[in-house]
Formats: sequence, C-alpha cells, structure tokens
Amino acid sequence: MAAKRTIRWQSLRQAIGVFRYIGPYRWAFIGGMLMLVLGSVVFMVFPWAAGEMANVAIGKGRFGLTLWDFALLFAIILVVQGLLSYLRILLFAYVSEKGMAHLRTEVFAKLITLPVQYFDDKRTGELTSYITTDVERLQSAFSVTLAEFLRQIIIMIVGVVVLIWIAPRLTLWMLLTFPVVVILAMVFGRYIKRFSRRRQDSLATANHIVEEAIQHIRTVKAFVAEWMEMRKYRNAIDSVVQISLKFARVKGLFFIFVVTFLFGALFLILWLGAWYVSKGMMDVGDLFAFVMYTAIMGGAIAGLGNLFTQLSESVGAAARVLEILEYPSETPITQIEVHPKNYIRGDLHFEDVHFAYPSRPDVEVLKGVHFTIKEGQKVALVGPSGAGKTTLTQLVLRFYKPTKGTIRINNRPIEDFPLTEYRAQLAVVPQEVMLFSGTIEDNIRYGNPRASAEEVRRAATLANAMEFIDRLPDGMRTYVGDKGFQLSAGQRQRIAIARAILKNPRLLILDEATSSLDAQSEHFVQEALERLMKGRTSIIIAHRLSTILDADKIIVLQNGRIVQQGTHAQLLSDTDGLYYSLYKLQATGVPM
Ligand SMILES: Nc1ncnc2c1ncn2[C@@H]1O[C@H](COP(=O)(O)OP(=O)(O)O)[C@@H](O)[C@H]1O
Ligand SMILES: [Mg+2]
Repeated sequence: MAAKRTIRWQSLRQAIGVFRYIGPYRWAFIGGMLMLVLGSVVFMVFPWAAGEMANVAIGKGRFGLTLWDFALLFAIILVVQGLLSYLRILLFAYVSEKGMAHLRTEVFAKLITLPVQYFDDKRTGELTSYITTDVERLQSAFSVTLAEFLRQIIIMIVGVVVLIWIAPRLTLWMLLTFPVVVILAMVFGRYIKRFSRRRQDSLATANHIVEEAIQHIRTVKAFVAEWMEMRKYRNAIDSVVQISLKFARVKGLFFIFVVTFLFGALFLILWLGAWYVSKGMMDVGDLFAFVMYTAIMGGAIAGLGNLFTQLSESVGAAARVLEILEYPSETPITQIEVHPKNYIRGDLHFEDVHFAYPSRPDVEVLKGVHFTIKEGQKVALVGPSGAGKTTLTQLVLRFYKPTKGTIRINNRPIEDFPLTEYRAQLAVVPQEVMLFSGTIEDNIRYGNPRASAEEVRRAATLANAMEFIDRLPDGMRTYVGDKGFQLSAGQRQRIAIARAILKNPRLLILDEATSSLDAQSEHFVQEALERLMKGRTSIIIAHRLSTILDADKIIVLQNGRIVQQGTHAQLLSDTDGLYYSLYKLQATGVPM
C-alpha cells in the first residue's frame, strides 16, 4: 500500500514536470485561467439574478431594481460571458498546441535515439502511443480538462457560499444529504466502469479476429478456413453479448439508484423549500434561485468524477511520456563528420565474445566467439539458422554490447569510437529490405543525404538498379514504400545496395542479401555486391555457399560457437566437418 502511494506521488511529480514544456507559454496559460475564473464567477451571478427577478415580479424585490434592470444585467452577463469564453478557448488552444508540439518533437527525438534494446521489449503500437494517445491526452488536459475541473470547483465553492447566504437552513439540509448520495454514486460508477472496460476488451478481441482475417485473407481462403474464422468470430461476439447484458443489468440498477436517491434527495429539498415558503420563512424567488444553484452544482459534481478520471489518466500519460524522456539516449543527434582519428581501418578482432540478449539474459546466444578479419578481407559466416550469425553482426553494429569479451578494430575497442562516427562507416544490406515512403531517389539517398543527383544515379548503375529504374513510369522519381509502387525483393535489394554504395562504408555487412531472390535477380545482385565489396572489409552471411567460394576466410558457426574456420578448400578437405555436410547438401540440390 505504501509502495503504491509513493508511485502515485512519483507520477504526480512527473505530471508536474510536463509543465516544463508549456513554460514558454505560461503567460497565455495564466491568462486563460484568469478568463476562466472570471467567466465562472460571472456565470454564478445569473441564478441569483433570476431568483431576485422573480422576487421583483411578485413585488418583493429587495434592492430597488426594476425588471428592465434585469434585462440589461442579463444582456451584460451574456456579452461578457461570450467574450471571456472566446478568449479563454483561444489562449488554452495556443498553450496546448504549442506546448504539445514541442513535447511531441522531443519525444520523437528521444524515441529515435534510444538504444535498440529498448525496442526489443516493446511493441510498435505501444511506442507510437506515447506520441499519439499520451500526448493527445495531455493536450486535452491543458486545453479542456484542467480548465473544466477548475471551473466546476469554482462553481461548487461559489454555489455553497451563495446558498448559505440566501437560504442557510435549506442549504444545511442539502449539505447533509447530497454529498452522501454523490459519494455512493461515485462508488457505484466505478463498479460500472469495470464492466464497461470488460465489454470494451471483449469487443476488441472480436475486432481483432476481423482484422486478422482480412489481413491474411489469402491464407484464410487457401486453407478454406472461412468457416473456422466465422465460428471464431461468432464465439467472440457471443461473449460480447453476454458481458453487455450483464453490463446493462448493472446500469439499470444504477439508474434505479439515481432516480430514487438522487431525485429523492432533490424532492426532499424542494418540499422543504415549499414548506418554508408556505410558512413565510423564505421568498419564492429565493427558492427559485436555490433550485437553480442546486441543479448547476449537481451537474458540476456529476462532471467532476469524469474530469477526475480524465485528469488521473493525464497524470499517467505524463508519467509515461516523462519516463521515456528521461531514458538515456544512445547518442545525441548530430550531423556526422568523421574525424580522421576515428576512421575505422585495420583488422577486426572478436576476442572471446559472449552475448545474451537483454530481453532473454538466461539464453547465451554467442558462447566465446574468437576470430580475426584482416583489413580489406572478405569473410563469410555460415551455419544453420539460429546459430547466431545475425546476432554477431548486430554486435559489430553496436546495437548491443557483448556481455563478455571485446570487439576491437585496429586494437581499439569499438566502444571507444564515437557512436555516430562509427556507424557512419558501416553499411548493411539485409535480407529483407524495407523502403521508406518516398521516391526511389530518396531511398537511395538515405545512404548519404548530401549526395548529388548524379552520384545517386551512379550508385544505382553500379548496383545494377538503373536497368529496372529506367523502365518504371517515373524513373528515379517513382514513389515507393507502403502506398507507392511495389518493387520485387530483388529490386529492393538492389536499391539497398545502391544505398550502401552511396554510403561508401569502410566495413560492409551482407546478411543473406541474396537468399530470397530468384536465379536471375541473384545474378544481378551478386554482380552488384561484388563491386560493392571491392576494397572493403566485408562480412557476408551466406545462405548459398556457392556465393562465397572465393572468400578469404569462412567461419562456420553453430549454436553460438565457431566450429570451423578456413578457406573453402581447407574446410572442404575435412569430410567430418559441418561445412562439408552443408556443402554436400547444397551441391545435391537439397535445400539447407
Ligand atoms: N532480439 C532478440 N531477442 C532475443 N533473442 C533473439 C533476438 N534475436 C535473435 N534471438 C535469438 O538468438 C539466436 C540466434 O539468432 P540469429 O543471430 O538471428 O541467428 P542466425 O542469424 O544465425 O539465423 C536465436 O536463438 C534467436 O531466437
Ligand atoms: Mg540471420
């Protein structure tokens, strides 16, 4: 319990931290708050004026005012109220839009500089929700919720003060009954909310079935699984109905409760009021004002619960957003200019490298890997899938740190190089190439944003990509990516190679770059890769061993250990070795 409380305080402290982001707009915020307070007070004059007007109408006015005076007063209230509301909305919009734009950019800058490890444990949706849902929640907190919350509180305080002034006895009755009913209603409301959430969850499950079935419609049809999907969906919908009906019963009970207790209390007050009026202890106008205040305050109380929930959600959102902002970045975002003393040249050494992914610390993926790649050499990594080949390259990229052992370049631990300068000299051609939404030219230029159009073309030519780019409707300007022109795997691969050529790396990593290609594309891609590798240190993870026969060294990895290394001829001579059996399998055409 104590722990829970400290966490709450912690998140409150963090929520207040969000105010830092609206700091530059604080005067607008304070101005908006001022408009709000003024507006609420002006608004609270109205029920009193209406009551007093009723008193004037029956000849019992106390302040010597005429009905015309009230007409004027109402007109003034309306105009002032409108003006104040307009200014308040503008000021709050200004604060929340500017402040949240600032916050959003900060969160994105942070998100994109977080270490890879951070992304392992989170789902993409979860991460993007920081920028979308959470920041939006904060935005509504700053534009509406905080203001409304404050307004309701002002209404209640002013209301109680005015009520005590015009009808102290009746107010006492009201204060004795209403809070009890309201508190009961809030407790009940919380219970109802649980049902509402369960209903939402079960509906989400049902919707997920629809989404998945549509997304994988080809699989569904190929397996004639329409009926199965329909049954799954019907079951899910059935449970939605069941929960909804339970929910409806609870809601119905709540309605009975509200009608009997809330209205019961209201009728009691009304009756008492009528009693006082009949005894001459109260004026009709005052009773009228009293009822209006009570109704307004009832509305305020009802709204408060909701606003309170929204505010505590905003506190949660603020805590999440600030937590991510406080997470240490991998590296600051800077323009990259590699200093000569940070050139990565020389041999690459793996010295007894052990590694387990931070998300699965008990499973050691690399178990003491030890080898050397001489500068300019082409070294191949082979081995069954799951052996740890990709993992090894991720360590070279410094996405993760070895749990034990050191990776050195030119006898300098790679951690000693400034991260951005280091990675600027590496290029990866992965198995599955992702293109960003944009033109082909944009995608190639990803390798070097400062490259000229001429350089982009040259890289594309060297990558054997011009051959197909020129045949596309808009050539280099063809839109690709999610909503653009769909390129084949081999075409995307060649764009990735052009990217790498443009980056002109010192160290090149090819991770099964040709494994998903047909024979013809593979020929084009292989040729482009040979050009790319020339004169650079290259690590090639090869799926087809035929592509690495000329490698300076082949390292055979199995189960996180190096089981063999040497040239193709050397390895092949060991007929008991893993390499021999892998090679024989492929040579006979049986896939690996
Ligand atoms: N991000 C990750 N988190 C946890 N375990 C991982 C991650 N990526 C890969 N692994 C595990 O590490 C092992 C080696 O994977 P990987 O290096 O991809 O093998 P290969 O590239 O040789 O096929 C596998 O057992 C895999 O399940
Ligand atoms: Mg792999």
